Amino acid sequence: MQPILQMLHDVNIVAILCKQWGDTGKGKFVDLLAAEWADIIARGNGGANAGHTICRNGRQFITHMVPSGILHDADGKINVIGRGVALDPRALCEELEMLSQAGFSYDHLYVSHQAHLVLPQHLLLDRVREGNLGEARIGTTGRGQGPVFSDHVARSGLIVNDLLNPDLLVKKIKANLVDKVRLLSHPDYDPEVIKEVLQHSHLGNGDFYNSKSILDLDAIVEAYLGYGKRIKDLIRDTEQLIQNSVLTKNILLEGAQGILLDVDYGTYPYVTASGSCLDSLARGVGLKSEQVGLTLGMVKAFYITRVGEGPFPTEIGGDASAKWCGQPEMTKERELRCYRGADINSPDPFLQGVAIRIRGDEYGATTRRPRRVGWSDSLMTRYSHWPTTTQVVLTKVDVLSEMDEINICSEYTYEGPPYRYAQHEYRIGTRLRHAVPDSFVLKHCEPQYHRYPGWLQPISGTRDYADLPLNLRRLIQNYAVQAEMNVRMISVGPRPEETIVVPDGYTKAV
Ligand code: IMP
Repeated sequence: MQPILQMLHDVNIVAILCKQWGDTGKGKFVDLLAAEWADIIARGNGGANAGHTICRNGRQFITHMVPSGILHDADGKINVIGRGVALDPRALCEELEMLSQAGFSYDHLYVSHQAHLVLPQHLLLDRVREGNLGEARIGTTGRGQGPVFSDHVARSGLIVNDLLNPDLLVKKIKANLVDKVRLLSHPDYDPEVIKEVLQHSHLGNGDFYNSKSILDLDAIVEAYLGYGKRIKDLIRDTEQLIQNSVLTKNILLEGAQGILLDVDYGTYPYVTASGSCLDSLARGVGLKSEQVGLTLGMVKAFYITRVGEGPFPTEIGGDASAKWCGQPEMTKERELRCYRGADINSPDPFLQGVAIRIRGDEYGATTRRPRRVGWSDSLMTRYSHWPTTTQVVLTKVDVLSEMDEINICSEYTYEGPPYRYAQHEYRIGTRLRHAVPDSFVLKHCEPQYHRYPGWLQPISGTRDYADLPLNLRRLIQNYAVQAEMNVRMISVGPRPEETIVVPDGYTKAV
């Protein structure tokens, strides 16, 4: 821990966010810094679509709403769900129950009174819209993010503070519901599908269904009045709390999703509905991004993942992988039944991708969907610096320890129909040395790789950078140079101690 504390000695606000399509292992680092450094841990974006995995005493805890610092509540650490978060009170109450049952307290957990409130109609709309989109679906997590943030910008959304004022809450839920029922009554939406979706456990197991008006206002109001009572004491003006702590406390901001899923900077439209860059995260807890002293961007290496639909140039196994992972009924268990023995060095890219997924346990923390797997991509990593940091933590590096050969994408070749992108004209064979956040272009890009020999030995016990195998150090240096990033830490296993702080000047030849 000492080297990490040294690294943070002159900052008191640190942000941890992901530079890819999410799922880069932020939870471990938030937990680690929460234990040793932070006084306050705050989330400021996303919602229950995020899944944060924390390991403790051989057990895995997956949280969706509460920050990953929650397991340190008993030590007086404050956890905050900021104003930028879409708060699903059902999911929060379920998580509080899970924490209590596991013997963890949440006495210092606070929810911003300004956070956006997720309602059953948001979850319902998210799911039925996805169903209607067919081939054009986004592959959302079904947690209502699109509709709740649409309501926010349409100025018809509710906020957590409404839970504290029952009369107003009823009026606002009613107004919001009228609007949604009108929408859902359109012939585009199949009443039978709506009825079926409403049977989901996240939607009250059918309690919110009403045969006359689609959604039952009374049932929703009753449920939300109940949530209000349950979380009343957690609701605070958290912005004031954070502003008052800026000079006296160490504050850790925990990002959700990743830069490539950011609604503005990501691979639109295959993105989430809120911002994942530093500005959104800081704003979502009531800070200015300039107040953040250090931003650490998580970069999974030496493979990457993506959940849901959308372009993924370096996907191992290409379309076959995307199709396999995109099947609605696909689960980890089903994949293991079919491919348990898949070889990480298989000459068949599809099987190789499956093997990496199994080895890295790459199944959605929120949805349990298999994550699509691809090679590290220098172009995308470089692109992600633009809206955020070049200070990077390489995560899950131990996963490919038995791989003979590792690829890193260094260039794309455009293989699609003629396409104008701003001032550029792309034709078959156009070479791209920089990623562009355009789904049409990315869909038609063929990756060109640099190949490197693997390091072929376990590394989880290594604590010093100099003790890592030579092939791995070369790989890290090459990736750092190609992707123009400064590697500050390396994660070599899920446990907090399985972390290496990279000394300054690591890019020197070894
Ligand atoms: P939504 O955020 O549920 O609307 O989903 C939009 C896209 O973002 C889908 O491709 C999801 O799979 C993806 N997504 C949302 N949250 C996460 C996350 O925490 N990790 C990885 N992908 C995510």
